[in-house]
Formats: sequence, structure tokens, C-alpha cells
Amino acid sequence: MLSKKMEKAINQQINAEMYSSYLYLSMATYFESKSLGGFSNWMRQQAQEELFHGMKMFDFVCERGGRVTLKAIDQPASKWSSPLDAIQNVLSHEQKVTGLINDLVNLAQDERDHATNIFLQWFVSEQVEEEDTAGSLVDKLILIGKDANGLFMLDTELGQRIFTMPVKK
Ligand code: FEO
Repeated sequence: MLSKKMEKAINQQINAEMYSSYLYLSMATYFESKSLGGFSNWMRQQAQEELFHGMKMFDFVCERGGRVTLKAIDQPASKWSSPLDAIQNVLSHEQKVTGLINDLVNLAQDERDHATNIFLQWFVSEQVEEEDTAGSLVDKLILIGKDANGLFMLDTELGQRIFTMPVKK
């Protein structure tokens, strides 16, 4: 059974994951408007992944006898000054999410809620990957600079990303 405090904290994180999905979907439309279909595809896949993160927490709350309470999702930004600006926003957002996940782990440990602590470890590892991926995209865009060919090649690479919804939790 989840404590009320833990239940509230995971509910907040479900909202944060849904917001992440919304933010990345907003970035997908930005890239679409710049005719960068590969970047747009990458952001759409990322939005799907965030939805999966939110639903993974949703299911966990239910399994532990808690109650999911859905709150309003904040309006995401819709404009960025360049592809680099948008991807830097992805990185800073993921760093923020890592902080939120770490806060949840701290709470689970304070409460000696071992089941929630173990559950959250998956997200701890996931955040390492999320930050690494966004960071390497930032590095590539900095290297590319104003080289249109480089941007075109990266766009083609990002167009190949496919997110497959994991079957098992
Ligand atoms: Fe759900 Fe990108 O962290």
C-alpha cells in the first residue's frame, strides 16, 4: 500500500511525464514547420516514450492500491530560435526530470517503501539514457553549426527512429 504522501508525489510525476510528452509533441510541430521531418519524427517518438513513462507510473499506483488523480497539463512552449535551441531545451528538461525522479527516490527511501524504491530504479537508469541521448544530439548540432548538409544528414538519421511500446513493465 502506498502512503498518501507517496501517492501524491507519484501523481505529480505522472503529470510531469504527460507534460514532457506534450512538450515534445509541441517540438514535433516546430520541426514540422521547419521542414525537418526527421527531427519531427524523433520528437513524436519521444512523446510516445514519455506517455509510456506516465502510464508505467499510472499502473504502479493502481497495483499498489493507490488512486491516480489526473491534473491539468501545463501549456508547453511552441517556439524555439533554432533546432539547437529546441534540443538544448530537451536536455535541460531531462535534467530537470532527473531531479524530480531523484526526489521521488529520496522520499521512497525516507519512507522505507522498498517496493516503490525498486520500481523507481528503472526511471533512474532511464534518465541516464535520456540525458545522454539529448546531450549527444546537442553536441552533433554544435558540430554541424550552419552546415545545411550536416543538418540534412542528421535529419535523415533521426527520421529512422521508431519507438516500440515495451510489452512487459
Ligand atoms: Fe520521462 Fe524523458 O523522462
